[in-house]
Amino acid sequence: MENRFITNKELITDDGDVSLRPKTFDEYIGQENAKRNLKVYVEASKARGEALDHVLLFGPPGLGKTTLAHIIAAELGVDIKVTSGPGIERAANLASLLTNLQERDVLFLDEIHRLNHSIEEVLYPAMEDFALDISTGKGAGATSIRLNLNKFTLIGATTRAGMLTGPLRDRFGVILRLEPYSAGDLVRIIKRSAKLLKITVDDEAAAELASRSRGTPRIANRLLKRVRDFAQVFNGGAVDLAITKKALSDMEIDPLGLDYNDIKLLDALINKFGGGPTGLDTLAAAVNEDGDTIEDVIEPYLIRLGFIARTPRGRIALDAAYKHLGLRPSKKAAEQISFFGNGGGNE
Ligand code: ADE
Repeated sequence: MENRFITNKELITDDGDVSLRPKTFDEYIGQENAKRNLKVYVEASKARGEALDHVLLFGPPGLGKTTLAHIIAAELGVDIKVTSGPGIERAANLASLLTNLQERDVLFLDEIHRLNHSIEEVLYPAMEDFALDISTGKGAGATSIRLNLNKFTLIGATTRAGMLTGPLRDRFGVILRLEPYSAGDLVRIIKRSAKLLKITVDDEAAAELASRSRGTPRIANRLLKRVRDFAQVFNGGAVDLAITKKALSDMEIDPLGLDYNDIKLLDALINKFGGGPTGLDTLAAAVNEDGDTIEDVIEPYLIRLGFIARTPRGRIALDAAYKHLGLRPSKKAAEQISFFGNGGGNE
C-alpha cells in the first residue's frame, strides 16, 4: 500500500520490452552535449563521495529522459526510485518516498510539471536542505518539526520547462535540454537495436526507418519491431528497403513519418477551419484528442517541419502543410500565412 505511487511503468517501453534501453553512457547514442556534461558531473560528485546535484531534463517525449535517469543512477552506483507528478496524490506520498531514499540515491520524478503545487512545496526544503518540515497539531498549539533526509539526487523530467514554477526550477543545479536526434544517430540506434533483437537490417532500410522516426528513438524502435514482424511474415525475416516501405505504408506512416493523428489534425485545421487561426481547445475537440497530447506529442514535430505555427490567435497551417496534402491555401489563408511570417514551405 505504501508504495502504490511508485511505478516501474516507465521502465517498460510501448512494447513491454526493456531490453533495448542503453544502460551506460557509452551505450547511449546521441545527445552528445548533455551526455558529455553529465559524465563530468557524475565523475566529479562520485570522486567527492557526494550526491550529484539535482538534475532537470526537458524535451519532447521519447527522447530518452527516463533512460538517462537510469543511466545516471547506474553510473553513480546508486539505487533509483521512479515516480511521476500525477502519481503523487498527497504530500505524505512524497514524504514517504523521500524518507526511504538511501544516501546519494536518485529519485526520478517524471512529468514534474504536473506535480500538485501544495505537494511541490514539500520538495523545496527536501531539495535545498535535505529536510522535511512536518507540522503537528492544530491552531495555537501547531508546531513544525524538521526531519533530516539522506542526501539524494532528484532527477526531474518534463516536456515543458516553461511550466515549472520559478522556485522549483531554481533548485536544480543541472538543467539539460534533450534535442531531437539526427537521422545519423537514429540509424546507429536502429542498428544497435537490430543487433539486440537478433535481426538483420540493411543500410537502406535503416535509413528509411530513421527518416520516418521524427527524430525520436522510441518511435524508431517501435517501427523497427513492427517492420520486423512484416519481414518475418513476408520476407523470410530480412529487413530490406522493400519490406520496410511496405510495412510503413501498411501502417499508414507517410514518408515524413506522419501518422493518422498528424494527418487528422492537419486536415481539420485546413479543411474544417480554413487554415486557422484555431485555438487549441477547438482543435482538440474537432479531432477528439486531449489538448496536452496535441501540444506535447503531435504539434512539436509539425512545428519543426514548418507545417503549422502557433500564433497569438491560435494555430495556423503553413504552406508546407498544404503542399504535403496536395492542397493550395485559399487567398485568405495565404494572406494569413504571409502576415504571420511564413515558417515553412518558403521557396
Ligand atoms: N534506444 C533508445 N534510445 C537510445 C539511445 N539514445 N541510444 C541507444 N539506444 C537507444
